[in-house]
Amino acid sequence: MNKNFYITTPIYYPSAKPHMGHAYTSIIADFFARFKKIDGFNVHFLTGTDEHGLKIQRSAEKNNMKPKDFCDQISKTFEDLTKILNLSNTDFIRTTENRHINSVQNLWKILEDNNQIYLSKYTGWYSVSDEAFYQNDEIETKEGKKYSTSSGSLVEWVEEESFFFKLSEWEKPLLKFYEENPKFILPEARKNEVISFVKNGLKDLSVSRKTFSWGIKIPTNEQHIIYVWLDALTNYISALNFPNTKDNLYKKFWPADIHIIGKDILRFHAIYWPAFLMAASLPLPKRVYGHGWILSGDEKMSKSKNNILDPLEIIEQYGLDALRYYLLKEVSFGNDGNISQEKLENCINSDLANNYGNLCQRVLAFCEKNCDLVVPSHEFSKDDLNVLLPFENLNKLRNLIDNQNINVYMNFLIEMLFASNKYFNDQEPWKKKDNKIRLNTIVFTALELIRKISILLYPVIPETSLKVLKIFGIDEKTINFESMSKHESLKVGISLSKINILFKKIEK
Ligand code: MSP
Repeated sequence: MNKNFYITTPIYYPSAKPHMGHAYTSIIADFFARFKKIDGFNVHFLTGTDEHGLKIQRSAEKNNMKPKDFCDQISKTFEDLTKILNLSNTDFIRTTENRHINSVQNLWKILEDNNQIYLSKYTGWYSVSDEAFYQNDEIETKEGKKYSTSSGSLVEWVEEESFFFKLSEWEKPLLKFYEENPKFILPEARKNEVISFVKNGLKDLSVSRKTFSWGIKIPTNEQHIIYVWLDALTNYISALNFPNTKDNLYKKFWPADIHIIGKDILRFHAIYWPAFLMAASLPLPKRVYGHGWILSGDEKMSKSKNNILDPLEIIEQYGLDALRYYLLKEVSFGNDGNISQEKLENCINSDLANNYGNLCQRVLAFCEKNCDLVVPSHEFSKDDLNVLLPFENLNKLRNLIDNQNINVYMNFLIEMLFASNKYFNDQEPWKKKDNKIRLNTIVFTALELIRKISILLYPVIPETSLKVLKIFGIDEKTINFESMSKHESLKVGISLSKINILFKKIEK
């Protein structure tokens, strides 16, 4: 079995400071990356910054800075964000790095050699904010100004000499590919949007610009720079040292297992990217998952709307793990979601403090009083085996992850937390002081439940999960998903360490 796993997030435009939407994409990807890691996969998890194009050039000009200096500054804030969000990314790519520039220019040459590029003139609408070209029927007029109907962003008229990619040639092969790979685009509803867009007909795509300079030069014509999306999408292979397809990284990790993206950039990932790759005779990624937006009220966050939710403020007030837990549990994955202080505080109080925190606290306190903080021996009864049983079906959980069923995974976790607390209450070990074997067995089972649940929680709230697992002597290197199912992994006789309060209840 192939035990390599390659997951990517979109590389961020360093034109605005990081907001909750950015944090969301990254946390989702980190969840999958961490799960795969503890399931024994070699995980390559890529993120980074997308630094070329008119949008960045204009943002730099507004700040009276050279584009590269501007990018150095803002890219750093995204790199810092990876630490703040406790991401387990294994690389951070910047599209201004030589490894990327070299890769993009090589891909361009392959497309040229494969007769996929021709010179013509682009006349039409362009949105700098989306870095996207739009057809006439995708434009609406409001108060004399033109906007894209899909993204709502302002468009401007462009007329210039441009190289074109023969996207129209790939209409049928793309439709065939979607049909043969029904899970290439998820969720299902978004796949249908993409298919109907392609069925409406694909026009050749303008893939170079001549009227500004902040981009990667076309290797065979230095007057043009490469369209920023062709440049940016290539990051997924430039980080694997493409064009050196014999390179170990490329051999191990391409094609990617999954590109996690927001729904606004699905067209680029599900149409343009596979078309570029097919045209270059390269393998296609296995999946593109377009998640929904984190809304501020009912609207998408954006600088122009001045409604940006700052993840750093929430982390400072409530802690990172609370935010991670909230985003993974409360947002129905694939759909839009939002954050309210009330819902976040409820999550912290009911799930994290009462359910998980309390279970850990009371079981360990009881174990300290009655078993000297040592894992006791056990003689299982039916009740004990029953409560441990649901954790045995590892493949069910793996399947949920492989189909990006985050919410079902989270519901399973919550059910198990309830079941564990109920088990401890119902068994009333405090009334079994004259039946040491029974008391010991209940403590063993409860400790084992904590160990299992904490392993399952690792992808969600890694810092807290490791704090708890540490009491069993488990750390980031030794945590292992497979061991979750086997109660033999919890060794009788080992001394446990104490635990501090995990989550403080918020008084309302
Ligand atoms: N640079 C491009 C991606 C290039 S990938 C080859 C880009 N950058 S972005 O900074 O605008 O967005 C990065 C990611 O954040 C995208 O997946 C986008 O969908 C996501 N989000 C931006 N705002 C968002 C929300 N409000 N909610 C959820 N995700 C959103 O697009």
